[in-house]
Amino acid sequence: MFHLFKRTRSDLEREEAFELMPDNVPKHVAIIMDGNGRWAKGRGLPRIAGHHAGMKAVKRVTIAADEIGVEVLTLYAFSTENWKRPRDEVDFLMKLPQEFLSIELDELVEKNVRVRMTGWKEGLPAHTLEAVEKAIERTKHNTGLILNFALNYGSRHEIVQTVRDIASEVRQGELKQEDISEELISNRLLTGALPDPDLIIRTSGEIRISNFLLWQMAYSELWFTDIYWPEFTERHLVQAVCEYQRRARRYGGL
Ligand code: FPP
Repeated sequence: MFHLFKRTRSDLEREEAFELMPDNVPKHVAIIMDGNGRWAKGRGLPRIAGHHAGMKAVKRVTIAADEIGVEVLTLYAFSTENWKRPRDEVDFLMKLPQEFLSIELDELVEKNVRVRMTGWKEGLPAHTLEAVEKAIERTKHNTGLILNFALNYGSRHEIVQTVRDIASEVRQGELKQEDISEELISNRLLTGALPDPDLIIRTSGEIRISNFLLWQMAYSELWFTDIYWPEFTERHLVQAVCEYQRRARRYGGL
């Protein structure tokens, strides 16, 4: 399971003693993959070249997360606000899940990965949705890493929809107001059965959350790096996890 750590150990030790403790790996890691555009610009390339390179980082990080024992990896691939980008860029981003899955799905199946999606299916182009749904269907009996794409996802919208659903059930007498609890709300969100993220990573030097998993991250550890997403490697993931392991999570207690 810790093959990755063994494989990269000498590299890691050269820079810093990253001692990954197998018994304290975050169950759920969620990543805001930022900096594709700036990475491309720095190389005189179009923004879409950055997104394409970002897709390669998705592959690296998925395999690494699996190898170190992460159970859920959520990747913020497209937000409800990203529709405001130029049409060409949106079209390109919508082709990436399809391209990624057409290349990688066999290997994901072989690695026992379960593909999931958190976000609104409505509004996604048919070819994007079909590719994702096919992958979800093909991997649904797997038992390994959950690779969860946050696609057409926005946290405030998720909360609004959940509140509306709950309000409607109360109005119709299907749910008692006093039965509304934190647990009920958590279960009703799109992330439903998934555990809350233990560790949230954002790349590219931006220190903000951008409408990502607002309810779910109440007690998440946050880790920010200046690295642009296309340059994010296994090593950075291990670095983030090691830092996570050095923190004392108190959940408001002592
Ligand atoms: C933010 O960087 C990144 C995105 C909006 C898209 C993220 C998508 C990927 C990394 C590829 C996804 C791959 C699959 C398989 C779904 P930005 O463009 O805002 O960067 P910038 O802030 O430097 O402009």
